Amino acid sequence: MKNIAVIGTGYVGLVTGTCFADLGNRVVCVDINEERINNLNKGILPIYEPGLEEMVRRNMASGRLNFSLSYDEAINNADSPAEMVFIAVGTPEGVDGEADLRYVRAAAETIAETMKHQVIIINKSTVPVGTGDWVADIVRGKQPEPIAFDVVSNPEFLREGAAISDCMNPDRIVLGSLNRDAANKVAQLYMPLRAPIIVTDLRTAEMIKYASNAFLATKISFINEISNICEALGADVKEVAAGMGYDKRIGRAFLDAGLGYGGSCFPKDVKALAHMANIQGKHPQLLEAVMTINTDQRRSLVNKVRGLIGNNGAHLSKLEGKTVGMLGLAFKANTDDMRESQPVDIIRMLQADGAQIKAYDPVAMDNAGKQLQNVKLCEDVYDVAVGCDALILGTEWNEFKNLDWHRIKGLMRKPVLVDGRNLYEPAVMRDLGFTYRGVGRGYA
Ligand code: UDX
Ligand code: UDX
Repeated sequence: MKNIAVIGTGYVGLVTGTCFADLGNRVVCVDINEERINNLNKGILPIYEPGLEEMVRRNMASGRLNFSLSYDEAINNADSPAEMVFIAVGTPEGVDGEADLRYVRAAAETIAETMKHQVIIINKSTVPVGTGDWVADIVRGKQPEPIAFDVVSNPEFLREGAAISDCMNPDRIVLGSLNRDAANKVAQLYMPLRAPIIVTDLRTAEMIKYASNAFLATKISFINEISNICEALGADVKEVAAGMGYDKRIGRAFLDAGLGYGGSCFPKDVKALAHMANIQGKHPQLLEAVMTINTDQRRSLVNKVRGLIGNNGAHLSKLEGKTVGMLGLAFKANTDDMRESQPVDIIRMLQADGAQIKAYDPVAMDNAGKQLQNVKLCEDVYDVAVGCDALILGTEWNEFKNLDWHRIKGLMRKPVLVDGRNLYEPAVMRDLGFTYRGVGRGYA
């Protein structure tokens, strides 16, 4: 059993701290957001993540998980001074794609000013290669008096919507440090998970994270490029991905063509890695192509809508007078996260073409309201369908998998469906009387 402090209660920090508590450790999670901490102390979570609410409440009830605004309370707690302090604050995209480390700096400085005993400082946030050394310099420079510490890089690989499962069943644990003993102490935390543990140096651990995310993003842009070629040649990209996936060297995962990758990680991490390369004079040709394909994928869906329902007269903007419904707003299913949401990006492009937009998402409606203007947020799919000239499937929520399409057809102005996630079968939808377009599902 270890005493742990976690700085940041977002998707990464809250899940990480709760899982450590569930493994029997004593955890105090700290945040600068007072409302967030007050709500957490009432068992109200700031994020939607399947299974997390129950796990938080159970571990709070057991006394293993606490939330505080105070670094001092978290680190120097008299009964259980923290041996490890995890930094899990946001690392948003900054200028030129460079990761913005202001929050990491703030956390490191406060840890340095607060710690009264030796601790291991662990970077959980995704941070550029070299940040571990930078954090060590900040702590050394900020400490009122020298107190021994180590810095360990321990990047997170959890996916939103599957965060607890990914946290508790990791494919591997990556630990990097100048001091292998410190890395091995952190490794003890993860022993119950029985996952392979890689212990390496700081920079290599930081690069493993970026290279992993960039490779997954590359797989997605690859299959999206193949989907565009499939549309020209009459092949079905879903079948292509299935055929590819049986090859163990390729693997079926992350070969779903769609709207391109969104979320708070892939977009910012690919840009950050490209930026790291560029400032070292290494032109990231492949990463640049991955990003371009990703942006184009959203635009090509808008072009499909224009082609299906757009105005012909030059005097009208492409979608003037047309109403388009968006089913799903989150960047993927099972999350309420709207960061870099592809459906939101597509809505803005449709609005620029003069379209009126209606939308529904099972979970992300609150977050959507903060990001969208002039969109009619609806109660359900059928409310969206009323009067629409086209429907777009934007997020692959389970509840969209068995809809009453006869009813939807009767509610729409025109039975046009653009399936951004290849959730449906073209032949089935066409038999129901819909004009159907998927992504790479044969001739467009
Ligand atoms: C994000 C990215 O998703 C992930 O790739 C990166 O590694 C870390 O940042 P996430 O948990 O999603 O992780 O961050 P976010 O949801 O933005 O939460 C960050 C939390 O840190 C917020 O609750 C914020 O209030 C808190 N915070 C921020 C602090 O406690 N102190 C600070 O100085 C800044
Ligand atoms: C990702 C990484 O998977 C995770 O390891 C890392 O810690 C954080 O970033 P996340 O962003 O939560 O996780 O979601 P993920 O499931 O990876 O999907 C990312 C984006 O790619 C989503 O917009 C998703 O819709 C899209 N995607 C994913 C595809 O378009 N096709 C696919 O085959 C898989």
